[in-house]
Amino acid sequence: MNAPAKTEDFVAAKIPDGVYAETVLSVEHYTDRLFRFRMTRPAGYRFRSGEFAMIGLMVGEKPIYRAYSIASPSWDEELEFFSIKVPDGPLTSHLQAIKPGDTVLMRKKPTGTLVLDALTPGKRLYMFSTGTGIAPFASLIRDPETYEKFDEVILTHTCRDLAELKYGLDLVHEINNHEFLHEVVGNKLKHYPTVTREDFAYRGRITDLIENGKLFTDLGVPPLDATVDRAMICGSTAMIKDTKELLEKAGLTEGANNKPSEFVIERAFVG
Ligand code: A2P
Repeated sequence: MNAPAKTEDFVAAKIPDGVYAETVLSVEHYTDRLFRFRMTRPAGYRFRSGEFAMIGLMVGEKPIYRAYSIASPSWDEELEFFSIKVPDGPLTSHLQAIKPGDTVLMRKKPTGTLVLDALTPGKRLYMFSTGTGIAPFASLIRDPETYEKFDEVILTHTCRDLAELKYGLDLVHEINNHEFLHEVVGNKLKHYPTVTREDFAYRGRITDLIENGKLFTDLGVPPLDATVDRAMICGSTAMIKDTKELLEKAGLTEGANNKPSEFVIERAFVG
């Protein structure tokens, strides 16, 4: 008679080949729609700040993966992700229930266009985000290279209500109090949070605030200028389309990894 399988053998047998199986370290829920989690980083795993990875869970016998921007910077020993909770989402309906100690799968190759290499040199870097679209920028604003390349970094984050802004507000607070980052960042980082469905000093869609010029007046910067301004956009498909049109109207052209230019875009992933 064979010896009964040990629990470790059973769990190990279920993890697909060729993917990382990492351990959840912490989970923070912000609202009934948003949460973040941190997990272990595989030894030797390399990515560029701003890239995304395929994150997954075993659901029954099957792994389910979705694209997730890595929210931690490339120097961090752990990996962080900021996620929406979709009630019927094939992955997020399960992912939202993870607890420290649980296993999360990750495919080996990161990729993405929201990377500093895809932009030509400039002075001011705008990061336009809505909802979980802030995730790749959470990585980039914690990367010293961003501040080596730009004199000024402007992160805009628009959400429906104030509770949804908390992740970004905490993040900027953390950076300003971080033992070495606060020196690197100095006063180069400007955070511009706005909401669309609740009263707040900064209110409105970012597209409206660009069009009516309030964004620039509030920040005390000149209007968009393709000679010095660079931009990255991450949000819903509609938000990207509308923001991209405004950038193009201001004379900026879209770039890619193999053809750096003045702005780059990426959809915020859901599912
Ligand atoms: P609004 O409340 O006017 O729809 P969501 O949570 O649905 O992804 O939205 C995140 C934020 O993005 C909301 O504040 C939403 O504003 C805003 N938004 C939605 N569509 C656009 C768009 N086409 N351009 C700019 N902002 C948008």
